[in-house]
Amino acid sequence: MIGQISPKPHIIVLGNEKGGTGKSTIGIHLIIYLLRLGFKVGTIDVDARQGTLSSYLANRQAYSQTNNIKLPCPQHYAILNSNLDMRQAAQEAEKKIFEETLANLKACDIIVIDTPGNDTYLSQLAHSYADKLITPMNDSFVDLDVLVKVNTLGDKMIKPSSYAEIVWEQKKQRLMRDKITVDWIVVRNRLSNLSAKNKEEMWRMLQLISGRLGFRLVHGFTERVIFRELFLKGLTLLDVEAIGAAFSLSHVAARQELRTLMQALRLSDLDQRLAETG
Ligand SMILES: Nc1ncnc2c1ncn2[C@@H]1O[C@H](COP(=O)(O)OP(=O)(O)O)[C@@H](O)[C@H]1O
Ligand SMILES: [Mg+2]
Repeated sequence: MIGQISPKPHIIVLGNEKGGTGKSTIGIHLIIYLLRLGFKVGTIDVDARQGTLSSYLANRQAYSQTNNIKLPCPQHYAILNSNLDMRQAAQEAEKKIFEETLANLKACDIIVIDTPGNDTYLSQLAHSYADKLITPMNDSFVDLDVLVKVNTLGDKMIKPSSYAEIVWEQKKQRLMRDKITVDWIVVRNRLSNLSAKNKEEMWRMLQLISGRLGFRLVHGFTERVIFRELFLKGLTLLDVEAIGAAFSLSHVAARQELRTLMQALRLSDLDQRLAETG
């Protein structure tokens, strides 16, 4: 293990109240990227009911064992919603287990938390511990709707939507409790290579609201098979060479997108390794 990058683990939360936007996909790529740089990474799945991240990592362990290939893996925990009847008791139980899990991961450099595509207490709690919050979004006004309500022409914001309000509230919690300002990053995902009018309008709208809602807007991944085809093996494009498979031109382009995303996250402020490799 290379030394700690900060006095306590840096916490990166993947969040968006909408499902299917790419939280788990971006999460797993980020995790493997950091592991391959030598960071000690802890991961928490608070979307344990769906459990995409947990399954991905379980597939990875299985692949590694079956094929006798050493693959870097994070220290992983999945937290299920409490099944207690009383709401307050359930929330207290969830808070306790969440904070215990963070304590178990305190020797890590970075903790990555994947959250569900709906509003749960655990998800809000995770948001309130973020140093960085990454919100992936597809190029669709349907996805934008969870962030802001826009007019029918799609060129003016009417008001922030439910998810933006949750982020606002949890950012406040983070600031009051820890004097930390959350770095909120909206990442566009599954971009098509076609230049569509919708795509340009979305970009303009997102830029327009970024200042008001307080997020940074960055380019994410384009729609690529490599970002999803290795799930059953628990692998990512960063493992392709390690398993002795051929690296294609599309893989090179995908890896560049991942590097660009990593740079945009500005994790390099934390550690020289990220400054050097992007
Ligand atoms: N850039 C991408 N290219 C291709 N498929 C993608 C990409 N990002 C996500 N997907 C696919 O989109 C679906 C939803 O992604 P997922 O990461 O599970 O979203 P979420 O965690 O937000 O619900 C999955 O089938 C995933 O494989
Ligand atoms: Mg998911």
